[in-house]
Amino acid sequence: MIKVLDVAYARFQAPDLDLMEQFLGDFGLTTSEKTENALYMRCSDENHHTHVTELGDAKFVGFAFNAASLEDLNTIAKVEGASKIEEMDEPGGGYRVCINDPDNFQIEVVYGIKTLPNLTKQNVFGANFGDQRKREGEFVRLKAGPSQCKRLGHIVINVTDFEKTNKFYKSNFGLISSDECVDENGKTCLAFNRVDQGKKFVDHHCLLTVPTDTAGLGHIAFEVHDVNNIFLGHEYLKNKKYKHSWGIGRHVLGSQIFDYWFDPYGFRVEHWTDGDLLNIDTPVGITSIAEALEVQWGVDSKDRKT
Ligand SMILES: [Fe+2]
Repeated sequence: MIKVLDVAYARFQAPDLDLMEQFLGDFGLTTSEKTENALYMRCSDENHHTHVTELGDAKFVGFAFNAASLEDLNTIAKVEGASKIEEMDEPGGGYRVCINDPDNFQIEVVYGIKTLPNLTKQNVFGANFGDQRKREGEFVRLKAGPSQCKRLGHIVINVTDFEKTNKFYKSNFGLISSDECVDENGKTCLAFNRVDQGKKFVDHHCLLTVPTDTAGLGHIAFEVHDVNNIFLGHEYLKNKKYKHSWGIGRHVLGSQIFDYWFDPYGFRVEHWTDGDLLNIDTPVGITSIAEALEVQWGVDSKDRKT
């Protein structure tokens, strides 16, 4: 078993790379590289790309985890069904091992992909919260436009065999449960997984596996700087007539402020901010499956468009 660091990127196929590039630009990503056959989009943090689209029929292919070392790639390459270590023939280079999960999503474990300088932060200012005042003698003057995605935070997949999938991700990549939802018989049927970095605080979840009859993508989720970025992005996407899914609201599990949209091919993408950070000392939360969709404020899940 290895302990992955975080999710690196999601990989899709789509028949029109220009259309995907236009949407993702409006959503708050920036083109990193574009070839004849593939589009690589980045966030403002240093990862070379966080969203890959290959030319082809619209499809969610899978996603990648960042590994801590090349040695970890060696370890994962020994798992049954895993590829050998491959040198990646893509912008950013690096090495990867591929392994399919139980629903045949392609999971890449990557190391050594080139990083890029951070992009200049947009619409960031010191906020005055109650007793914590960080802005004195300055004004808030936001520039209308897309939100700015800072990083890819988590991925949600719909899975046909929860137990098998849960075991696959935990035993191979070292993911641990932050919250587990149980059914009326007390059986775990949903798990919010985070990476295990010991005492270091990490996001409440990097992967959520949701049991369903048909495997597919639930959504991919990008962190933005603050709630202003959520609302700015919301207005911008609404004015561009993109299809909205759910939000704005504040989740219970993970506590993020969220806003969900659809890309041109119907894949759900989320802006989120202000999520919970947990470490190895945080006990696993046990709750009902209903709570996974509850909000602390904002648009209720019954109004969610799927
Ligand atoms: Fe999410």
